[in-house]
Amino acid sequence: MSDDQTVISRARLVPVKGILLADHVAEGFEAVSAFRPLPSDILIAAYPKSGSTWTQEIVDLLLHDGDAEICRRAPINERTVLLEATTVVRRQSGLDQLKKMDPPRVIKTHLPLQMVPAGFWDNKCKMIYIARNAKDTIVSLYYYQKMNTFSPEPGPWDSFIHKFMHGELGWGYWHDHVKGFWEEREKRNIHYIFYEDMKENPRREVERLAKYLDLSLSDDVISRIVELTTFKNMKDNPMANQSSVPKEIYNQSISKFMRKGEVADWKNHFTPEQAAEFDEDYEKKMKQVDMPFRTQL
Ligand code: A3P
Repeated sequence: MSDDQTVISRARLVPVKGILLADHVAEGFEAVSAFRPLPSDILIAAYPKSGSTWTQEIVDLLLHDGDAEICRRAPINERTVLLEATTVVRRQSGLDQLKKMDPPRVIKTHLPLQMVPAGFWDNKCKMIYIARNAKDTIVSLYYYQKMNTFSPEPGPWDSFIHKFMHGELGWGYWHDHVKGFWEEREKRNIHYIFYEDMKENPRREVERLAKYLDLSLSDDVISRIVELTTFKNMKDNPMANQSSVPKEIYNQSISKFMRKGEVADWKNHFTPEQAAEFDEDYEKKMKQVDMPFRTQL
């Protein structure tokens, strides 16, 4: 992979409660932590590049009876808000955006479980967690950090794999992130979904999501939502494909936000040696949990 790109200004990572966050996110963390959600708020949590935007689009459509027009009322980042977004990368912070939104609000976060504002638990807000197998996540993240010119410099692919293995990327170790929500899913009523399951059977996952959100929708509406949220349709939808993010931030000529949307793209990137080293490290970090991740379908 080529590592050349135009760099404008890139975030530094700084530790907050032992977790590395982009400096601008770290600065706003105290205010984020104090955020008091409404009981009707719905939180979508994910380690970056796990399919959170896909889930956001599905949830917005579910809440609006599959109405494509209403769900084109604004770009996805305005219809559903990243809690920790700052004015470094957005016109308004996530907290300011939320003040202007009507319930039920759909909120997204990349924070690990222990950093989710306590109000979400106190108010028993609905919470959806989406996880994706580690190898595809890291490939997607690598391209994302190349094209998002405000994210930390990814560096060469081989060293990026090591950063991932050693917890040197943002939001903490991927392993801890996915495990944290997995282990609490029953106790805290977290709806846990896997990217690979969504790819394999999107209709089943959309139906499960509707049930979790206590929505009773017709088969036609469910079919419409499945169709509107295929990779191709979201890629062609300017309100879902992140094309409204200024190119000084998301330089989509380097890599599209809607890049490939596949399971097992990692096979095109990992050498056999890299995969073996990665797998050995993965086994050690994941051995205490039995999580049904799939790296191919
Ligand atoms: P790739 O880079 O592998 O293509 P997030 O929204 O959490 O940042 O995740 C982005 C990843 O989800 C990207 O993966 C993107 O293409 C993929 N994605 C977004 N919408 C999708 C959809 N409708 N179907 C499948 N994958 C989707």
